[in-house]
Amino acid sequence: MSDPNLETLASPGAGRGNADVAVELAWKMARLHGTPAYVYCATALEDRSRELLGVLPRSAAPRLLYSFKANPLPSLTAELRSAGCEADLTSPGELAAARAAGFDLSRALYGGPGKGVEEYDAAIAGGVRHFSIESRTDLRRLSSAAADRACQVKVLLRINPHAAPKAKLAMSGVASQFGFEEDELRSQGPEILREAGEQVDIVGFHLYWGTQIGEVEALLASFEKTVEIADELTTILGMDLQILNLGGGFAWPYAHAGAAADLAALRDGLERLHAGAGPSRQAQWWFESGRYLAGSSGTLVARVMELKRSKEDRWFLILDTGIHHLGGMAGLGRIPRFSIDLLPQRVVSVGNRITVDVVGPLCTPLDCLAKKLEIPTLEPGDLVAIPNVGAYGATASVVAFLSRPAPVEILHRGGEVIAVHHLRTGHEPLS
Ligand SMILES: Cc1ncc(COP(=O)(O)O)c(C=O)c1O
Repeated sequence: MSDPNLETLASPGAGRGNADVAVELAWKMARLHGTPAYVYCATALEDRSRELLGVLPRSAAPRLLYSFKANPLPSLTAELRSAGCEADLTSPGELAAARAAGFDLSRALYGGPGKGVEEYDAAIAGGVRHFSIESRTDLRRLSSAAADRACQVKVLLRINPHAAPKAKLAMSGVASQFGFEEDELRSQGPEILREAGEQVDIVGFHLYWGTQIGEVEALLASFEKTVEIADELTTILGMDLQILNLGGGFAWPYAHAGAAADLAALRDGLERLHAGAGPSRQAQWWFESGRYLAGSSGTLVARVMELKRSKEDRWFLILDTGIHHLGGMAGLGRIPRFSIDLLPQRVVSVGNRITVDVVGPLCTPLDCLAKKLEIPTLEPGDLVAIPNVGAYGATASVVAFLSRPAPVEILHRGGEVIAVHHLRTGHEPLS
């Protein structure tokens, strides 16, 4: 455990689960394996899976798919598989990770825009049988790959709805590269079904409204809208609806301490929705989650390299981690800048606080994890932890930028190491 002569801060607002214990164990793991380290707690993965599976409507024979884009680490995903999740995949790399983690690929869903015949061919050869299809071009390519392999596959048509549900959602019903336009399906649905080809059974719909939907009411409103659209389209297309993928968007704090709202109230709402549904009632209901399932499991432990003053009154806390390990796309201005909670292991002097920009070792001012964060005064060598980064951490960052080493990634249960990895970076010669 932690050094006995150091004072350890409890994580603020730790909330559901045992976040304080998780951070304690993260210090221990980082001491064993060095920093920067992503430390993942298997118990948190089990807890979140149980919670989410527990609110899905039993009468709808639900499936919970883990979105590998959140974190494809094979040992971590294997824990989610053992906890009852299936795989939501979007790339050959995720497919390889799911195979390595022992997922039954015939129960996985493979989707995302811009896929070629070769990619579909490889997925079919790899055992995938369910595809979420985003356009007519996509459908033709899958049909061609399935025909070449003489393999029957099932397709969910992804819908880009034309209007958002009444509840306030940040993203939905907007122009995007994702899915068939709802109106296109209404007007040309039967034609699309005919185009599918002999080897392709169109069995369902897929609708993903967006991420970080924090309120139970907003989640329910989005699911209600999905069922309404699916009911109508099933009738228009004259389909035998077997699978309705309602997506998710289940929230979890990112890089901040705390926990998501309790989802227990969702259970009754979803059961009611299922009981009152039209044709969607016959279908299996599938749900997807990345951040809710994986977010809470991960803590990024870093080391303070320097506390540096610039000009009169600006202070920079320089860590051995930065945007190449966490939130890189935010650092590069690709998505809105985010901030972090920083949990110091040691309080050098209680009450002696300082306001800093938290930065990393990259040679660019973009390498900034937080601005104007008030922290206790720290010294080089001190450890700090960033909580709730099990999803959209290392693989969602610009790991190859400046060719610095990838962080070590450690999965443990109760302090017993299950697996240690790190992402490969650098160039391999092709000839
Ligand atoms: C289609 C789809 N499904 C699932 C997810 C996972 O979302 P989250 O990690 O918020 O659960 C995403 C995220 O972008 C997505 O685009």
